[in-house]
Amino acid sequence: MSQQVVYITGTSSGFGRDLVHQLASRGHKVIATARNLSKIEDLAKVENVKIQQLDVTDTVDNLKKKVDEAITFFGKIDILVNNAGYALIGCFEEFSETEIKQQFDTNFFGTINLTQIFLPYFRSTKTESIISTVTSMGGSVAFPTFGAYVSTKFALEGFYEALDQELKVSQLPIRVLLLAPGSFKTNIGANIKKSERVVDEYQPVKDQVAEFFKNAQVNGGSSAIGAKLMADALLGEGFAKGKQVPLRLPIGSDAVDFTLDKFRKETEVYEAWRPFASESDSK
Ligand SMILES: NC(=O)c1ccc[n+]([C@@H]2O[C@H](COP(=O)([O-])OP(=O)(O)OC[C@H]3O[C@@H](n4cnc5c(N)ncnc54)[C@H](OP(=O)(O)O)[C@@H]3O)[C@@H](O)[C@H]2O)c1
Repeated sequence: MSQQVVYITGTSSGFGRDLVHQLASRGHKVIATARNLSKIEDLAKVENVKIQQLDVTDTVDNLKKKVDEAITFFGKIDILVNNAGYALIGCFEEFSETEIKQQFDTNFFGTINLTQIFLPYFRSTKTESIISTVTSMGGSVAFPTFGAYVSTKFALEGFYEALDQELKVSQLPIRVLLLAPGSFKTNIGANIKKSERVVDEYQPVKDQVAEFFKNAQVNGGSSAIGAKLMADALLGEGFAKGKQVPLRLPIGSDAVDFTLDKFRKETEVYEAWRPFASESDSK
């Protein structure tokens, strides 16, 4: 692929940081952003990389100024990767309204605000561009105690699925790509925020989730390999070479397994209950 200029949010650690290295080492230009610039100063020394301070929860006006400035770094941007995010955990009745709003401010509104800023720019360039968002297998499958987190990812999946259709029908050369990882070893665990309120009656489900994550920490994929697959999907390289990359792409076989398991069960239920649903069809 010709040299691309890629703008990535949340590059201080995990997928974001590894993706910067993946893309830069393949000869593409990267604008790596982080809310705390001191965490990515080392990236400024990497060939093909420029850094910028960006907190995705900033005002739309400030985000726009940052994007306008970033376009001048290499004269254009071809690909946006919405990667920044964190996980709020707790049970439904434990979350405060503020905790839920903060979770949505970062994972959902930060992502869509930035996308809305990029869309008119990408339309104006009239060249192929990509809007990519790191969602999660939790964008299709819910897990107990992750209700707030997966809700942000479900919401993103819905919004971007609609955007994908809007762009295709309008024949605009902008591709949407949802990258849906399973469990990977990044700083996501260390950055988890827990609901302040604790209701002791939910301890059994928390114990079950803790047991699951003990295994996930051991089995979770390497974020460097996850980022390699993300770069392949963005650039049409590796397994993606010569293929039409789908809108929603699982990364990690747990993402494939959990999602297929849910869809297979739902397919059976929907087929079995078709007679019930169709009773309401007009005759
Ligand atoms: N790891 C997994 O198993 C997994 C699975 C599915 C999906 N994901 C998704 O992958 C994406 C990257 O996460 P990760 O796993 O690589 O975790 P990570 O290592 O914790 O990276 C998250 C990044 O997001 C940044 N961030 C958080 N809030 C921000 C804000 N308001 N503005 C700008 N940046 C912000 C963090 O910056 P700071 O250093 O400043 O906090 C950090 O750079 C997230 O969207 C996450 O939901 C991860």
